[in-house]
Parts: sequence; structure tokens; C-alpha cells
Amino acid sequence: MILDRVLDGRQVVVCAGAGGVGKTTVSAALGSQLAARGGRVLVLTIDPARRLAGALGLPEHGDEAHEVDLPQSGCAPDGSLHAAMLDAQLTFDRLVLEEAPSERAAERILANPIYRQVSSAVAGAHEYMAMERLYELHASGRYDVIVLDTPPSRNALDFLEAPGRLTRFVEGRALRFLLRPGMRAGRLGFSMIERIAGVAFLRDLSELAAGFEGMYDGFARRAADVSALLASGRTTFLLVTVPQAEPLAEADFFWRALRERELPFGGMIVNKVHPSYVEGAPSARTRLRAKAKRALRDAGVPDPAAARAAENLVHYQALADRDRENIDALERRIGSGPIVEVPLLDHDVHDLEGVAAVGRHLFGQAGG
Ligand SMILES: Nc1ncnc2c1ncn2[C@@H]1O[C@H](COP(=O)(O)OP(=O)(O)OP(=O)(O)O)[C@@H](O)[C@H]1O
Ligand SMILES: [Mg+2]
Repeated sequence: MILDRVLDGRQVVVCAGAGGVGKTTVSAALGSQLAARGGRVLVLTIDPARRLAGALGLPEHGDEAHEVDLPQSGCAPDGSLHAAMLDAQLTFDRLVLEEAPSERAAERILANPIYRQVSSAVAGAHEYMAMERLYELHASGRYDVIVLDTPPSRNALDFLEAPGRLTRFVEGRALRFLLRPGMRAGRLGFSMIERIAGVAFLRDLSELAAGFEGMYDGFARRAADVSALLASGRTTFLLVTVPQAEPLAEADFFWRALRERELPFGGMIVNKVHPSYVEGAPSARTRLRAKAKRALRDAGVPDPAAARAAENLVHYQALADRDRENIDALERRIGSGPIVEVPLLDHDVHDLEGVAAVGRHLFGQAGG
């Protein structure tokens, strides 16, 4: 219900959050629900676990979009779910082909031995390529909604600042610094670097810097376009987290970063919440222990197994109580921003059925 409102009319849904919290799972689940509502939906995903990738019909190589074979009941007649894997290197190569002043110039860059290393090693390059691919696919007009899974970032800001960071890099300041005339004349003269790095390396580096300079305008324009798309009402950011202190602190941090940059925050998805069996205080847990022990004994489970099983249930309830406290505290901090909870399921989510189950929880249709 809440998510229906948040997602209404959005063309881009970004799922961001700390490592391992469930961004990829939630992205797939959102995609399947949106397709069930009749949209042409693309989930742009990053490194899904092998079995989930298989369930989505993703090939091991390449980043082309494929239609996901949803079960009969899983899709509205005019809806469709597509999935594509994000491959930063392929995206970067296409970008070079498109933005280099000539085909020859593009080929020279792509064949440059340093290019491949640089394109994956530059800080923020991966995040930038995620946005670049988003931009390409959004511009294609083939989809009503694109759900963007995001790479596990050490720092959420890498993602938000990637376009600017990469254009600055391509502008060539870092490369030019290495090649600046002063280096040749200075005490740590060119010959010194030459000796350490090799003549061929320096030639490759300087060619790459020159090649990138020719693409600066194109990079800057695309970065500005994608930044504008992300900041507009066509986009919403969902922050995925789990109800434990550290990932919650990261979610808080990201939430504040979105606010500072005036980017559209849609809501928090708190995933893997321990289901609760009783409400509230420690006394409730004591009663739960006694009840469980009695029920187990009545069912013929002998002591000490019954006592131990009851104790485990109480430990589990303590985790559920702690999750509840953490979520309540989150609610107090972010005020009216919607919070949607998804319970910790009994199994990993690696097939379409699991994805659909998470989707039902996201949209409040799970019942029970
Ligand atoms: N609600 C859930 N209940 C049980 N298991 C879950 C749930 N959500 C996700 N998982 C499992 O947790 C693991 C991590 O999920 P996922 O890969 O979606 O996280 P991620 O945030 O994309 O991770 P990464 O940061 O590494 O990309 C997976 O094995 C997934 O099946
Ligand atoms: Mg992931």
C-alpha cells in the first residue's frame, strides 16, 4: 500500500544500502510486483547470486536485457519483467565508442593497455557506470520503470558523487598531473619515472590522457543528464537495510546524504526482520518459555530437549524484540518517511517463488 503510493509514476527506482542487506533481492521483488501491476519493468542488477541469476534467466556473460519467464499468475497481460546484469567494463567500452571523437580514437583508447586497469580502478567508476547504463536504458524508452540495484558501496556517497568524480578524472587532471612538464624538468625528473615505469607505460598513459580529453564534453553532459534524472520527480530512492545497529547507521547516513543533496527519498525497506511471537517486555518472554516448554512436553518431547528448545525460542524472541526497538528508533529519527518491513524468511531467496514472497511482504499482501 505504502509502496504503491511511493512508486506511483516513477520511472527509476534506486535500491541502495550496505553490503548484504538484500538490495538485489528487493530489486527483483519490486520488479516482479511492478510487472504484476502491468508495467514494462527492467531490473538492472549487480552480481546476483548464481541461483537467483539463473532464476531470472540471466546469462553468465553480457549485459543485454532478457525477459524473465514469470509464472502465469505472476504478470498482468500488459506487464513484463526484464532483467539485465550490470557490467561496468562493457558499459565503459560502449561509452568510449559513443563519445570518442572518431572510431579510430575510440579504438586507440580501448586498445590502450592502461585503459582496462584505469576504467575499473578509478574511484567511483563502478557506480558511475551503473548510472551510465541506467541513463542509456532510460533513454531507450523501452521500459516504464527501471529498478536499479546498486553495488555494495563502502561509502554511500561514492554512488551519489560518482558522476562528478568521473568527469573530473576524465578531464584528465590526475593523468595530466603525472605527465606535467614539471615532472620532466624537476629533480624527480622524467627519466626517473621513466626508469621506474618504463617508456612504453608513459607513452600509453599520455595517449590515454589525450584520448580522454577528447571525451570530456560528452562525459560531462551525460553526467549532468543522469544527475538531473536522479534528482527529479521521476526517480525515487529506496534505502534497504537490516534492523541491526551498523547497517542502520549506514542507512541513516545515506538518508541524510539524500536530504542534503535534495534527492528524492521514497522510504526505508527494513529487510530480514525476526518475526515476533509475543509482544513486549521480558516478562512476556518468561511466559513464552514456560508455555513452549509445556507444549513440547505435552507433545512428547523429553527434557532436557524441551527445555533447550524453549530456551532457543526465547533467544529468538529476544532478537525480534531488539529488531523492534531498532526499528522504533529509526522511525523516530526519520519521522514520516515510510518504513516497510520484510521478515527474515526461512530460506535464502534464490528462485522466483522466493522473490514473489518478498514482493508480497513489500506491498503488504503477505497476510499472517
Ligand atoms: N527476507 C529475507 N529472508 C531471508 N533471506 C534473505 C532475505 N532477503 C535476502 N536474503 C538473502 O540474503 C542474502 C543477501 O541478499 P542480497 O544478495 O539481495 O543482498 P545485497 O544487498 O544485494 O548484497 P550485496 O551487497 O553483496 O550485493 C542472499 O542470500 C538472499 O537470498
Ligand atoms: Mg547485490
